[in-house]
Amino acid sequence: MKIIEAISEMQEQSLAWKRSGFKVGVVPTMGALHEGHLSLIDLISPKVDKIVVTLFVNPTQFGANEDLSKYPRTFEADKDACVKRGVDAIFFPSNDEMYSADSSTWVEETALTAGLCGSSRPEHFRGVTSVVAKLYNAVLPDAAVFGEKDYQQLQVLRRMTRDLNFPIEVIGAPIVREEGGLAMSSRNRYLSDSEREAALSINASMKEAISMITNGSDMEEAITYITNVISDSGGLVDYIKVVDAETLDELFQVSKEPMRLLVAAKFGPARLIDNMAV
Ligand code: PAJ
Repeated sequence: MKIIEAISEMQEQSLAWKRSGFKVGVVPTMGALHEGHLSLIDLISPKVDKIVVTLFVNPTQFGANEDLSKYPRTFEADKDACVKRGVDAIFFPSNDEMYSADSSTWVEETALTAGLCGSSRPEHFRGVTSVVAKLYNAVLPDAAVFGEKDYQQLQVLRRMTRDLNFPIEVIGAPIVREEGGLAMSSRNRYLSDSEREAALSINASMKEAISMITNGSDMEEAITYITNVISDSGGLVDYIKVVDAETLDELFQVSKEPMRLLVAAKFGPARLIDNMAV
């Protein structure tokens, strides 16, 4: 497995693969890899010939008071996990390699980023779309895979890829959960044992709320139920919304189109998100 730090070398490697007729797949990550990330590798693997995992803790998607400096960095373990999973190259650029000191160009999606996590993290998605566009230009992939764990991010990146005519197939991957239902996340390691236990209330209450909606309860009743369960377990709710699964428009009544329930809540130091199809 190659470890590549320079954009020019990554591009040359990818072009060489393509000249040999290989399809290249990219798995963008911020490292601290867990089974959720590794499932993305497994999902894209049958569709491409060469897999590049990018490991880059992207500073532009963290707000001023967020956890950029604390964000876990576990390069050696990530490298071992990628070797075991049959990855062909890790792209591991420095901040200076990715961003010139006077970098002044952004990629911004303006519709799907307006609500949900976009409201509580105002510059977050601009950082995500910009860095993913830059990673696309470094890795030159034919396909890219992103997790449904970050459901809004997945929809935003699908839209960005389409709107900017990147010739890249975007693949969505199902959420991998810990025992008990907590969605795996690099941020779960911020949780104490008791906070982790309490955070199980997120997914448990979401499942119950979905069966309430299926059995005829209205949205408001189901959302109030989740709010109460999370608050009673010591969580601080950021948002709980049922949205159209594609446009992310908030729904107040049951719709015939696919619907998605999205929740964000803080447990101790960790801001956790989860979502499920309704
Ligand atoms: P990161 O949080 O490291 O996640 C990398 C990818 O793994 C994302 O596509 C995310 O949705 C997926 N993922 C994380 N946990 C998952 C789980 N439990 N099940 C399935 N997929 C999961 O998301 C980012 O990094 C960044 O914003 C990035 C896209 C790399 C841009 O910097």
